[in-house]
Formats: sequence, C-alpha cells, structure tokens
Amino acid sequence: MQKDLGNYRKSYEKSALMEEAISDNPMELFQKWFYEVEASEGIDEPNAMTVSTIGLDGFPKNRVVLLKKYTYEGFIFYSNYASEKGKAIVKNPNVCISFFWPNLERQIIIKGKAERIAENLSDGYFESRPDGSKLGAIVSEQSSVISSRAVLEEKLAALEKAYEGKEIERPEWWGGYIVKPVSMEFWQGRANRLHDRIRYSLEDIDWKIERLAP
Ligand SMILES: Cc1cc2nc3c(=O)[nH]c(=O)nc-3n(C[C@H](O)[C@H](O)[C@H](O)COP(=O)(O)O)c2cc1C
Repeated sequence: MQKDLGNYRKSYEKSALMEEAISDNPMELFQKWFYEVEASEGIDEPNAMTVSTIGLDGFPKNRVVLLKKYTYEGFIFYSNYASEKGKAIVKNPNVCISFFWPNLERQIIIKGKAERIAENLSDGYFESRPDGSKLGAIVSEQSSVISSRAVLEEKLAALEKAYEGKEIERPEWWGGYIVKPVSMEFWQGRANRLHDRIRYSLEDIDWKIERLAP
C-alpha cells in the first residue's frame, strides 16, 4: 500500500512575525497569539497542545493534553501522576510542548521543566470539574493495560454508587504540572517557505531573542 502526498502544498501568507512588533517576554507574545487564535474561532480546542517526554524506554513520546492555565511562570496541565508521562517526568523533567494553529499558520514550540503544582491548586481545579470527570479520573489507572472496556464501566458504576451524595476528593495520584519554559520558539508561516522563526532563550532572568532560518 502506498499513497504519495508530494502534491500536498500550501502557501502561507496570512501574517508575519517581525522583531519590531514583539515583546521582550515570550509569555506576552504567547498571550497575544492565544487571544488571536481564540478570536479567530477557527480552532475547536485552541488549548490542545502536545507534550513530549523522554520515556523510561529512551524514546520520546508526544501526546495531546489540554492547557488549563498559563502565567508568566509557565503552562499548567492536569494528568495522572502514575501515567506513562508521569513516570517519564519523574525520571527526566525536561519536556517539550507544542501548539499548531493551522488557521493562523502558526506553531509554538516550548522546551521547559515540568514540576507538580502545589496540592491545594490541584485540589481547587479538581473541585471545579464535573462529577463525571472526577470519577473518570479516579476510575482510570491511566496508561495501564486493561482487559476490556467493561472493566472501566463496571468500576465507574460502582464508584457512582459509593459516592452518591458524598464529596469526591482528588486522588493523590492525580494533579497538575507546570512547565516552566527555558526556550520558546514562535513560527509564522510565510510565502516561498521563508517562514519567520523567532526563538526566546532564558539566560538567567532575561530572554535572549534570535531569529532562526526557516
Ligand atoms: C484533545 C485531547 C485532550 C486531552 N487532554 C488530556 C489532559 O488534559 N490530560 C491527560 O492526562 N490526558 C489528556 N488526553 C489524553 C492523552 O493524549 C493521553 O492519551 C493520556 O494522557 C495518556 O498518556 P501517557 O500514557 O503517555 O501518559 C487528551 C487527548 C486528547 C486527544
């Protein structure tokens, strides 16, 4: 079986990324682009991002998670601490996050260090989730092998009964990570493959700004 995709070709012409128009702090440029993608309404889940980790098997692995908060400090997402990514982060907290917003012809690649957020912050976010999502998080031993879907559904049904009318507390093995960036690279598609790439690298407390060849 084969399919040749050589003819898939697109010219990127929507925007530009010039040094004169950017902030000294990459989080401010991130925020500007995030607002623009939200306003464009052309992306269903603009907060969907890939997080890649170096696994215990030595391979990098990407998966999509949802960005739930960003601040000057970094990017927060929630997951199961005992999952494959959770174990990878314990061994090696260096991760890479990326966003691709095709309607704006933009990509952002962030290298950073992942760490668990404070327990009270994870409690607060867990509390804000609907009961179904809370129980779903408890039911799923994320990334472990299971024998069938029925196992999950039976476990959920049992938990629904057990928790009826009771408060559902966050399990200790589920919570947030913050990824504190050390490098943020912004890519804006341009005509003739001469795309704009601007990279911010953290040096002590300042961000060095460089343009990269496309
Ligand atoms: C759109 C989308 C959003 C997702 N959001 C999350 C999330 O916020 N947290 C999470 O743990 N997994 C999320 N997942 C599932 C992950 O991609 C992945 O399957 C899961 O985290 C297990 O990854 P791991 O086995 O590599 O640890 C999402 C998947 C998709 C496609």
